Amino acid sequence: MHILEIDHPLVAHKLSVLRDETTPSAIFRQLTEELVTLLAYEATRNVAVHEVTVTTPVATTTGVKLARPAPIVVPILRAGLGMLEGMTKLLPTAEVGFLGLRRDEETLEAVTYANRLPDDLTGRQCFVLDPMLATGHTIHESINYLLERGARDVTCVCLLATPQGLEEVKSHLPADADVKIVVASIDEGLNEKAYIVPGLGDAGDRLYGVVD
Ligand code: URA
Repeated sequence: MHILEIDHPLVAHKLSVLRDETTPSAIFRQLTEELVTLLAYEATRNVAVHEVTVTTPVATTTGVKLARPAPIVVPILRAGLGMLEGMTKLLPTAEVGFLGLRRDEETLEAVTYANRLPDDLTGRQCFVLDPMLATGHTIHESINYLLERGARDVTCVCLLATPQGLEEVKSHLPADADVKIVVASIDEGLNEKAYIVPGLGDAGDRLYGVVD
């Protein structure tokens, strides 16, 4: 598993505003989108392309186009939805599938409650969107789900991660899995309620407000 923590002043600036508890939802959503577009630039570094011939007004040359089948972007409901626009801005021809996983607040395990994805993902490049890699349970369930259906590689785009969450994901992966995690910051760890510290709070609530 390859982990990439993005070191860039614009990423750090936007993340600092997201962390601020006084940032309202509207600004939080806007900045999340912008931040994800910056992360997506690195996350798509190995996206599959094929060579094409291009005729410019001056000469004929070779270039590349995105290969088929198109990559699949998989936001994890609900908070991952706030990252979708930022990702599809760079990958407008990607297909979008959805996985709904929530954490059981007692066991902290990930429970799947929704799935809108093709059964056969053979050879597909998948991009999982989940802002908070906290315990790692949701991300490892999602990655394994995609790999079991034949995904060629899986890249997860996260705003924050913890060292123990990353370790948890790594320990559950098949040895030959081609998995990359792209993250704006690896934070200190988790508090007793499994929130990331210093973190930014509940990402779903910060994006969309509290729903009970
Ligand atoms: N999910 C969140 O939204 N925030 C955390 O800090 C941890 C998990």
